[in-house]
Parts: sequence; structure tokens; C-alpha cells
Amino acid sequence: MASKTLICDAEPWKDLKAHVEDIKKTHLRDLMNDQERCQSMMVEFDGMLLDYSRQRATLATMDKLYKLAEGASLKNKINRMYSGEHINSTENRSVLHVALRAPRDAVICSDGKNVVPDVWNVLDKIKDFSEKVRSGSWVGATGKPLKDVIAIGIGGSFLGPLFVHTALQTDPEAVESSKGRQLRFLANVDPIDVARNITGLNPETTLVVVVSKTFTTAETMLNARTLREWISSALGPSAVAKHMVAVSTNLTLVEKFGIDPNNAFAFWDWVGGRYSVCSAVGVLPLSLQYGFPTVEKFLKGASSIDQHFQSAPFEKNIPVLLGLLSVWNVSFLGYPARAILPYSQALEKFAPHIQQVSMESNGKGVSIDGVPLPYEAGEIDFGEPGTNGQHSFYQLIHQGRVIPCDFIGIVKSQQPVYLKGEVVSNHDELMSNFFAQPDALAYGKTAEQLLKENVAEHLIPHKTFSGNRPSLSLLLPSLNAYNIGQLLASYEHRIAVEGFVWGINSFDQWGVELGKSLATQVRKQLHASRTKGEPVEGFNFSTTTLLKKYLEASSDIPADPPTLLPRI
Ligand code: F6P
Repeated sequence: MASKTLICDAEPWKDLKAHVEDIKKTHLRDLMNDQERCQSMMVEFDGMLLDYSRQRATLATMDKLYKLAEGASLKNKINRMYSGEHINSTENRSVLHVALRAPRDAVICSDGKNVVPDVWNVLDKIKDFSEKVRSGSWVGATGKPLKDVIAIGIGGSFLGPLFVHTALQTDPEAVESSKGRQLRFLANVDPIDVARNITGLNPETTLVVVVSKTFTTAETMLNARTLREWISSALGPSAVAKHMVAVSTNLTLVEKFGIDPNNAFAFWDWVGGRYSVCSAVGVLPLSLQYGFPTVEKFLKGASSIDQHFQSAPFEKNIPVLLGLLSVWNVSFLGYPARAILPYSQALEKFAPHIQQVSMESNGKGVSIDGVPLPYEAGEIDFGEPGTNGQHSFYQLIHQGRVIPCDFIGIVKSQQPVYLKGEVVSNHDELMSNFFAQPDALAYGKTAEQLLKENVAEHLIPHKTFSGNRPSLSLLLPSLNAYNIGQLLASYEHRIAVEGFVWGINSFDQWGVELGKSLATQVRKQLHASRTKGEPVEGFNFSTTTLLKKYLEASSDIPADPPTLLPRI
């Protein structure tokens, strides 16, 4: 029986609603003058520093947010997650990505079974396999070492590993350990993505890793069949056993596909796709590229945040603070979006990954008990590395819509550059912007200031900045495998906190199903029309017209075409 209790009916929610009026009377220009307030809005853990003093919040706001957390039973929900309860109720599953990076001797149970030994069995198997491939003791069908890897997967089986790979690519230790190797990702079913991936690669020296939790995802399976064809047409069908391995929870389908089950790396239904980068989904391709020891450091960084999230009091708990502030911005201040702005080119794939983690998790319209929400849950996430974003969409953030921003900065660059005679190093130049932007957003620029600068009167409205635009700053000591793990886990848990407070199920994704099933209907139609000339039927006027146009304009495609692979 669905419970009708929603967090918006609780006293702390109503209290925060009323409190918005107090906050409307404040300006960050003044709030930033209160040093005591600013001091208490800085939290450090394991080298990471969170400064949330540029949020439109006072100490009273924070107290009210902690009460909201209490009202939402946040602590209890976190504990239920860690203890393996089936908190993903619509799929009747535990949510235990924390077990993926737990130390070997930890005990984390799902359905009464400690899952940590299973996790480490797979990690040990990955270590062993990746060392064999990297050392050249595992060779391809023609006896050549496999120096290049294409990981096929989409969504959670792609975005997290891509983010970590991109972040590691320029880390000196990772550069050293990946010399002479390439890792590529094939995600889109668009054949152009196949073309881009295989360009310049030789099947003889390429290992393909098919990554799919379900092993049924249409895009991934078609791409997997395509690369199987690429390998077998060049090296013969028996080469597949040496050149293709898989990561999945569905080992039966892996075997049916033709991949040796010994070369399959398992994970479990208690790992959500978008939370799977610390499973074999990410660990296998990344270990093949960088070696297992580097990837283990990444897992340790994530584990450090897992322990912090589980044990730190809310006032000092980075993921909890991040999550509560997001709820404050979305549900009370009415800001629907969040910009993720890492001042590091190595983090260029962080925002795309967080888009899935956040928007697939919290983009929900009903409570966990199925009650329609009278408030919006989830937020619109987007982002680009600074300073590139500054020359793109920051105009809107400074003078147009209010978008709370996450500024992520790194103390020590992975790749320092100093030029004799320059005022600052290249990294200092980057970081000058990291430090300046939050203040520009918070303080703005008044008409009075502009007048003093003798700005022409007609330009004053255009050059005025309202300020009072919230942001937070996250400073990491460096960007190595460990810090990347910390960053990932901080955001994963932040998003869970938001969902726990909103009272939704952040771990299912029914919203992606409808589009998939309608595509099945279109696929059938395209096949019937192309092979038997059947008329387009069963669609609305718009789709029928578009389909007809598409079919007519591509009628030169033969009904039963021979295999064709990209030729670039
Ligand atoms: O987009 C929907 C989704 O189910 C994601 O949640 C998931 O990460 C992705 O598809 C890929 O799924 P799979 O790993 O099963 O191929």
C-alpha cells in the first residue's frame, strides 16, 4: 500500500519554504562579509576542501536543512543502503556500489551474503587478465600482443569509464603505465562511431571488451556484432575467443553471443548501471590501459569517501552537504539547473557522466511509494571545463538565468607548464579564473560602481551584474587516480542524498523504457518496408510522413545487403 506521506508535508520543509523570504532579503555581498559564517561553511576531508560560503544560505538555513534531513530519515536511509536492504524497491534490489571499492576484509551483505569476497574474486581475475594482456603473455590469434582496447558499452557502461579514462590520460603515473597502449570507447549505435573507433586500429592487435549489464541493450549488441564481424572477417571466426571479452551480470547471454565464459567478468544486480564504474565495467578497461595498481588507487579514493559519507556528522559530511544544498537550490530557491565547472581539462568528461548519474537517478515524477510529487525532483546538469565554458555559456550565468555552479579546482596540475618571463604559470592562469568567477557571480557589479568608472549612461544597464548568484568551490590537492575516485564517490552520494530527501527511488530508470519500445516498432517497420515493400502503418501522421520520406530517399539500399564495414 503506497504511503501518501511526502517530505513537503513535513514541518522542516514548510519551515524552509517560509525561510526563503528571509534569504530573499540577503545578498551574497553582505553574507560574504560575515567571516564566522564563511569559516563554518568550509569543510575539509582527506585533502578535499569544500567551500559553500557562496551559497544563498545562512547558518540558520543550514540548521533548517539538517532538520529537513532528519525529517526525511536521511541517516536511516544511508544506513539501509549500506546494509544491503532492497532500497531499489521497484526492482527489488540492494544498492551496493560501495561494496565495489570496499577493502578486502570488509563485510557488506546483500540478501544475507557477504558480497565483498565476490567483488575481490572479480578484481583478482581482472588483475591477472590485464597483466597477461599488458605483458604480452595473452596474445591475439596471430600471436601479436594486444596493445589496443575498444570498450563497447553505452550509458553507465560507458560514461563513467570514459570520465575516469579521460581524467587519468594526462596523469604522469598513468601516462607512464599506458605507454604504447590505446583505449577507445564505442557507445553510439551510429555507424560513424564504429568508423571512428576502428580507424587506424588493426584487428590483430585489438582486444574488444563488450560491456553491458543486461547484455541486451540494442546499441551495444549491434556494435558488438559489428566488431565481431570486423575481427572475424579479418582473422577468421575462431579469433573471436582471443579478441573479445565481456563484462556483464548476464553470463548466459555472454556465452550465447560466442564469448568464452572464462573471459567474462561478472558484476551483480545490486550495482546500478550508472553506479558501475567501480565494477568490472570500469575496472577491466582501465586496468588494461593503466594497469591494475593505478585502478586500485582509484577504488581506494572512492572508498575513502564511502567511509566518510557513512560516518561523518552531517555538518562535516561533504556528500551530505552537497546534496542538501542542491535540494535547497532546486526545491526552495527554485533554481532548476546546476553547472558543473571543473577547472581541469582532464575532467572534461565529468559533467557528461554526472548528467547520467544525476538525471537518470533523480529525474522522477513520483515518490518511492508511487505518489505523484507536488514538487520538482532532479536538476538539469550540464557543464564544461573552465576556462572554455567562460567563453561559451557563462554570459547567461552572469547576467541571465541563475544557475548554481560547482567550481572544481585542482591545486597541482597533472602537467605543469612554466614559461620564463610570464607573470604566472599556465596552471596559475587557469586557477586565477577558478578563484575569480565565484566572486564575480556572488558580488556582481552595481550601477554606482560603473558610474564611478565613467561608464557611459546608456551602457550601464548592460554592464550591470546583479550578483547574488550561488556557487560552491571544491578544491582537490591533485588529480591522480585516488582523487578521481574521491570526486566520483562524492557526487554519487550527493545525488543519493538528494533522492533520499525528495523521497524518490534514485536507483531505477523506468523513464528510458518507452522510447526503447517505440524504437522496436519502428525497427520492425523499417525491416518490413525494406525487405517486403510493406507500407508504413500504425504510426501517427507526423511519424508516417517522416518514415516515408526516409524510406523513399534511401530506396537505393538493397533489400538484403552484403556485409559492409566502414572504410575510412
Ligand atoms: O539508458 C538506460 C540504461 O539502462 C542505463 O541505465 C544503463 O546504464 C544503460 O542503459 C546500459 O545498459 P547495459 O549496461 O545493460 O547495456
